[in-house]
Amino acid sequence: MNLEALKREAALRAVALVRSGDRVGLGTGSTAKYAIEEIGRKLAAGELTAVVGVATSEASDTLARQVGIPVEPLDPRPLDIAIDGADEIAPNLDLIKGLGGALLREKLTEVQARRFIVIADHTKLVEHIGEKSALPIEIARFGFLSTIERLRAILPSGRLRQPGAQPYVTDNGNYIFDAQIPAGTDIAALERQLKGTLGVVDTGLFLGMAERAFVAAPDGVTELTP
Ligand code: A5P
Repeated sequence: MNLEALKREAALRAVALVRSGDRVGLGTGSTAKYAIEEIGRKLAAGELTAVVGVATSEASDTLARQVGIPVEPLDPRPLDIAIDGADEIAPNLDLIKGLGGALLREKLTEVQARRFIVIADHTKLVEHIGEKSALPIEIARFGFLSTIERLRAILPSGRLRQPGAQPYVTDNGNYIFDAQIPAGTDIAALERQLKGTLGVVDTGLFLGMAERAFVAAPDGVTELTP
């Protein structure tokens, strides 16, 4: 089974937890896409009714509408469930997210979900956060060179995300600083330090948020809990 098929398998397991009438946080990325498509399919088939989505990116908002999911903005009410991919999944279900650039809306949405379900293929599993993936950090554009100096004092390997001539711009009009996390770093302390750094909007560390993860491998889907 190729990786795309595995991502879809994980997504279908998570969507099985969605109930009629649920307000659902819709993740972003190549795995979350399968969950959005499956919710749309179930609504069209009458297997689900009255589901409303809250999208974590412009891309997911567009896809959700295309597949027939009514989309509402995030408001203070709790979401019944949120389903999203991740870039790294530690054994305690701490996550790195944001390689796709949607970390801020993802965190704002998923922190409000009664159930936050992670979906991934097996390549996302790590023993320690920062093992494979850089950490995306969303920063304000105004004064970004100063913010980058402050961040480099904490994470010296980091650099502004710049895929072409111009920096990458998030849906919120901000930039992203991607940095490797040195081995042995206290992740909770790092999160506090980064969130206390002027110019940082938020980080891709999602700590203690996920209720469970469905992780697909060639020999089947494993359900993980913290
Ligand atoms: C988007 O900003 C990210 O947090 C994605 O959810 C994460 O990168 C996983 O994406 P894939 O499913 O495409 O690997």
